[in-house]
Amino acid sequence: MKVNHHALELEQNYLFSEVAKRIRTFCAANPTRELLKLSIGDVTRPLAKVITDEMKAAAEEMSHAETFHGYGAEQGEPFLREAIAGYYQKRGITVDAADVFVSDGAKCDLGNLCDLFDADNTILLPNPVYPVYYDTSIMSGRRVIFAAGSKGNGFLPMPDDSVHADIIYLCSPNNPTGAVYSREQLREWVAYAQKNGALILFDAAYEAYIRDPALPHSIFEIDGAETCAIEINSLSKTAGFTGVRCGWTVVPRTLQYEASLHDMWFRRMATKYNGNSYIIQRAAAKVFTEEGLAAVHKDIDYYMENARIIKAALTKAGIHSVGGENAPYVWMQCPDHADSWDYFDHLLHACGIAGTPGVGFGTAGQGWLRFSSFGTRETVTKAAEYLSAL
Ligand code: MLT
Repeated sequence: MKVNHHALELEQNYLFSEVAKRIRTFCAANPTRELLKLSIGDVTRPLAKVITDEMKAAAEEMSHAETFHGYGAEQGEPFLREAIAGYYQKRGITVDAADVFVSDGAKCDLGNLCDLFDADNTILLPNPVYPVYYDTSIMSGRRVIFAAGSKGNGFLPMPDDSVHADIIYLCSPNNPTGAVYSREQLREWVAYAQKNGALILFDAAYEAYIRDPALPHSIFEIDGAETCAIEINSLSKTAGFTGVRCGWTVVPRTLQYEASLHDMWFRRMATKYNGNSYIIQRAAAKVFTEEGLAAVHKDIDYYMENARIIKAALTKAGIHSVGGENAPYVWMQCPDHADSWDYFDHLLHACGIAGTPGVGFGTAGQGWLRFSSFGTRETVTKAAEYLSAL
């Protein structure tokens, strides 16, 4: 038996596992200290009642022979795929329900999509970015190159015509920096992909947090994206589904490559996945109703107020930060050019605040730290008191 040697090229721990390990060590050594957790982007608001009521109704159906459901449709239940297409339609974006694939979340889809591509592909990643893109590309033996984000370009790197890439991951709003590409910038990425015969994997998991009406929520707002982009999204952050699990991927039949990625993804999902549970899909469809969207937007407003509080505290302390305006992450520059992990340890031990070291998202994140605004108001307010006095 031979193991996948590419998997051994990864850091020993996934970023958030390493952060969790350091937090556990801190808590064990300081049992009386309060932990102010602004690290992993995990929601803290309970699910909206309108959504849990729908889950209960769906669970009740499962207990009667006449309304019981066994295996579901491979691509996801049509009622949910229609609801997702309708969500795009509300913004004037055309997505065909037939191109929507329901799944148990964006992270899983991002990893699973690697099944569709030859190992001989060059992957272009913004740096810094969600570590799953890098880790899954390395695990599957692909070459990875980077487009560097910086304070200078607002952490929104743009394509370089002298560099060839086959697969480009974009995350907008960006995790970890909170930066959001404009429509004009996304047009440039689509033009680059078309010129290079490349594919864009567009992660829109944080689109519901965009406040500025001028900013795009989907790659499919850009003409031509339907020939060169796949979009991945999730209800984890939009509707508090981190513990419920439901996401989707749009794989247009209009993509132009040597084979239909839509058909390949259908085949892959039919073979390796049995679909999300009926109960969860019913709850997910409820999110896209008028009452569902009104309820989830209240929670999104709550988290965005947290982001505002964190940002205001940093500003008061004279610390530079970006993000937090159209995304639930605030990206702060560590004072005195401190190293990301050193500053993470310092904040944890001095104030009991856990952030996420920026360098964990890529080398260009060195010297930065990310705060998640998904904590409770109490945690965020206490953390803000410490931060404003840094
Ligand atoms: C994060 O903190 O970046 C996210 O919660 C991780 C994830 O969504 O998998």
